[in-house]
Amino acid sequence: MSKPQPIAAANWKCNGTQESLTQLVEVFNGHKIDHDVQCVVAPTFVHIPLVQAKLRNPKFVVSAENAIAKSGAFTGEVSMPILKDLKINWVILGHSERRTYYGETNEIVAQKTLDAYKQGFYVIACIGETLQQREAGQTAKVVLTQTQAILKLLPKEAWSKIVLAYEPVWAIGTGKVATPEQAQEVHAILRKYLKEKLGDEIASKLRILYGGSVTGQNAATLYKKPDINGFLVGGASLKPEFLQIIDATK
Ligand code: 13P
Repeated sequence: MSKPQPIAAANWKCNGTQESLTQLVEVFNGHKIDHDVQCVVAPTFVHIPLVQAKLRNPKFVVSAENAIAKSGAFTGEVSMPILKDLKINWVILGHSERRTYYGETNEIVAQKTLDAYKQGFYVIACIGETLQQREAGQTAKVVLTQTQAILKLLPKEAWSKIVLAYEPVWAIGTGKVATPEQAQEVHAILRKYLKEKLGDEIASKLRILYGGSVTGQNAATLYKKPDINGFLVGGASLKPEFLQIIDATK
């Protein structure tokens, strides 16, 4: 079975200045991408309008890094309707940093994924195990539990707008990338599970991204694996090196 359209997503996290991001967007604009790939760039909320104004490369869309479902008396938050008003149609949800530092549970992430779907977003939903969980042999159980929470709430038709990002926590920002075999093993477990629950058609079209210390050097070997459909990139996405990662999805 041929692979679905790949995704190369830049998660800039809480980084950048107006100047540094403008420069980087100019680099992205200047790169000719001649294969079918969806490139995504997720700046901080405050940098979204700047990036929207500067980004001209038609292969790219702008995403939010998080959102809450509703506008209202929620000091310091940004809601999905506010993002929609800014013409943002993509959102990353359930990143391990949000789970770890801001208390987002599997249930919260699943509910936000449903809310985002209902409001017309594409969602990059993040899952992944800690080192301790991996060493205890719990990787499959952890990622399937995280996925199951989402599966329970979402109608079947929602899955065409969901992207799963497998990001082992121990690989995020550590320089310790999962080996292609380690990543493929988990992606295959996820796809098999989703095949059982949702059927062949939906599961084979689902994009499962790998994230965690992806670089211009290691992306191509990872992408060769049959169940890896692209990347969610932190550190390397803040550099021109991100272009190599896009090119690795050919
Ligand atoms: P790094 O690429 O910096 O390891 O971060 C991965 C990540 O968390 C992307 O969401």
